[in-house]
Amino acid sequence: MGFKVKDHYFNKAKKDNYFARSIYKLEEIDKKYSVIKKGDSVLDLGYHPGSWIQYSSKKVGTSGEVIGIDIKEINLKVQALPNVRVYKKDVNDISELADLEVEKKFDVVVSDMAPNTTGIKSVDQVRSLQLVEMVFYHLPQFLKKEGNFVIKVFDSHEAQTFLKQQKKLFKKFEYLKPKSTRSVSKEFFVIGMGYK
Ligand SMILES: C[S@@+](CC[C@H](N)C(=O)[O-])C[C@H]1O[C@@H](n2cnc3c(N)ncnc32)[C@H](O)[C@@H]1O
Repeated sequence: MGFKVKDHYFNKAKKDNYFARSIYKLEEIDKKYSVIKKGDSVLDLGYHPGSWIQYSSKKVGTSGEVIGIDIKEINLKVQALPNVRVYKKDVNDISELADLEVEKKFDVVVSDMAPNTTGIKSVDQVRSLQLVEMVFYHLPQFLKKEGNFVIKVFDSHEAQTFLKQQKKLFKKFEYLKPKSTRSVSKEFFVIGMGYK
């Protein structure tokens, strides 16, 4: 079943000219929770290759803006989109808006970041949670009041404990495992609506 899912969404992304199958995860999340609106400014952490940006750039339209950061080399095709700016940066090295050459906080922050996996479950879980914690730590600098938030999390007891403590930061705090996520994957997404 897992492989069928992979083939279906992988092939669909190729056919639809998207950079990655991940697009269908954001699409499902956004259809369900209306995270991104026309005219929004969006910060995309770990954007590469850029299918989430393909989605959000279209959704925010010309009155909006999408800024992406990733440690990988810049994807020039994403950078060429009209309302998009991307940086080659590590999320650990950004701590204020000036690092991204913007003045106002973002309407939406999304993170599909994943660490390089080792295959050792305990190591991968710790690395993944470190990224998640880093993003939550920096949220006050980047996400405006009432803003929306999406973040990928690899499930673990520690992750669940950490997330429970963050729930109070948002008016609405939901978990979703999108249909396009491989069935064997431990990942799920946290959707925070209405940042306090
Ligand atoms: C699953 S991919 C993102 C796919 C993307 N959402 C898309 O739709 O094309 C995860 C990305 O997180 C990036 N990443 C991991 N650690 C990072 C860090 N510390 N700072 C910035 N990006 C990071 C990786 O380089 C990788 O490109």
